[in-house]
Amino acid sequence: MSDHIPTRNPGEIAKLRRAGEVSARILTELASAIHPGMTTGEVDAMAADLFAREKCGNAFFGYAGYPGQLCVSVNEVVVHGIGGSRVIRDGDIVSLDVGAIVDGWYGDNALTVPVGTVRPEVLRLLAVTEEALYRGIEQAKQGNNLVDVCGAIEDFVRPFGFGIVQDYVGHGVGRRLHEEPSVPNFRPHYRLPHLRRGMILAIEPMITLGSYRVRVLEDKWTAVTEDGSWAAHFEHTVAVGSHGGEILTERPRTALPQQLGITL
Ligand code: MF3
Ligand code: CO
Repeated sequence: MSDHIPTRNPGEIAKLRRAGEVSARILTELASAIHPGMTTGEVDAMAADLFAREKCGNAFFGYAGYPGQLCVSVNEVVVHGIGGSRVIRDGDIVSLDVGAIVDGWYGDNALTVPVGTVRPEVLRLLAVTEEALYRGIEQAKQGNNLVDVCGAIEDFVRPFGFGIVQDYVGHGVGRRLHEEPSVPNFRPHYRLPHLRRGMILAIEPMITLGSYRVRVLEDKWTAVTEDGSWAAHFEHTVAVGSHGGEILTERPRTALPQQLGITL
């Protein structure tokens, strides 16, 4: 079952790490710049500057015709928000998703930032989604089945009663943005592959305060929750290791409960 999933050797993983580091640097810098009054189009323009400064390729721009430099998804937008005239307000949450290409190798990462004073329930959503990502990463180890990653995410999120998005999932990444396998954030009804060292996964839980159901807007990209409830999204690119996933898009955590001043 895992025959067609590439494994990368240490030299290749070093190259993936360079792409991951650039992706993380751009993401982190954008996250720190988000403030009330800014438009999502301004975030996109800032991303264009950062990609130019890093002299790296952009994994999203032009992918299947995607028109943005990054995905910038506010509140009820789950993923694939395109920068435009929408104004970011105090109390909003903004999901940023950035992918870079260095020497033909891909990095992919995402996080959700709270803007100003955000409702405690929403802060809980962020903390739970970030923690779910790390629970998944922990299970990305040789000898496990991929379902251990997916199940760890589902089992952590489920008791909170939040919605687990099914229509969008994580994925293999490497020489292309999307490679085998799919990485659902729940136990799917189909069989998943065994994990071998050097497989590269983009793990990316998308969790909502309400329904797990999403719909895509007229622009053919923007995915919003069906019920308008708010959504969070955290993503890392990791290499399957002997003790757990080795994070290639390392960044400081931003949604630990103590950082947000909440308890789970
Ligand atoms: N992290 C998302 C994904 O892996 C972002 C893709 S945006 C796209 O699907 F434009 F490239 F599709
Ligand atoms: Co991704």
